[in-house]
Amino acid sequence: MECIIRPDAGAAMHLAARIIEEQLRARPDSVLGLATGRTMEAVYANLARLHRDGKLDFSKCRTFNLDEYAGLSGDDPHSYRHYMNRHLFSKVNIDLRNTHLPDGTAENLEAECEKYERLIAGCGGIDLQLLGIGRNGHMGFNEPLSAFRSRTRVKALSPATRAQNAPQFSSPEKVPRRAITMGIGTILEARRCLLLATGAGKAEIVARAIEGPMSAMISASALQLHPRCVVVLDEAAAGKLNATDYYRLIFENEPEWKQFRAE
Ligand code: GLP
Repeated sequence: MECIIRPDAGAAMHLAARIIEEQLRARPDSVLGLATGRTMEAVYANLARLHRDGKLDFSKCRTFNLDEYAGLSGDDPHSYRHYMNRHLFSKVNIDLRNTHLPDGTAENLEAECEKYERLIAGCGGIDLQLLGIGRNGHMGFNEPLSAFRSRTRVKALSPATRAQNAPQFSSPEKVPRRAITMGIGTILEARRCLLLATGAGKAEIVARAIEGPMSAMISASALQLHPRCVVVLDEAAAGKLNATDYYRLIFENEPEWKQFRAE
């Protein structure tokens, strides 16, 4: 794992966008794993700007999102499909047929999960998976006690997650109780992972995920098993890490994404 600490949230998001840019330039037909949440909005704004400036082509790329709320259709403004269309897909030249999210309204959710796994495999797997982290350490909606070998499945949302995501809904009761999420096993199969976290509110959980013992209670700690994972933080989110001197030393001696270059 490589941990890169940037001075502020803007610089962290900018670096995350540049890593994605580098991947797409090296392989325009890359399969990108995408994430939602407030943290990612600026990343997508950066990617949209690069596209607008004529510097980034999404026409051949394929995407798979981590998760979707059960029961919400793509037209629902609270769905992650809606979020992705709004923040990224409508702003770049991506073919919507190449963008994938689980269908939260599928009649048979279990079959939908299996179909999603098959679709990912059919595209040759994910080249670069972008990840955020929930306050309880979840990636996607892999809530506490998610097995490290779990696959795409339906997961009940924890009270903490429902409270965290409530501001996006008109009232807390409107937050769905379940979601479809890629499993931790699915995420760990991505060729590279990029975890982005900003703000002091994430400092405690970031430290536990990166430096603490691996635990099914904190799904992001499973990234310690990934051979090519980079964590991009701002100073605030890095505030509770122990070994920051060491992380900075590595960063100073290596151009920021040298080790993370696309093949
Ligand atoms: C949701 C998503 C996660 C995301 C998390 C953090 O719960 N399912 O994939 O990492 O939000 O969101 P934020 O960036 O808003 O803190």
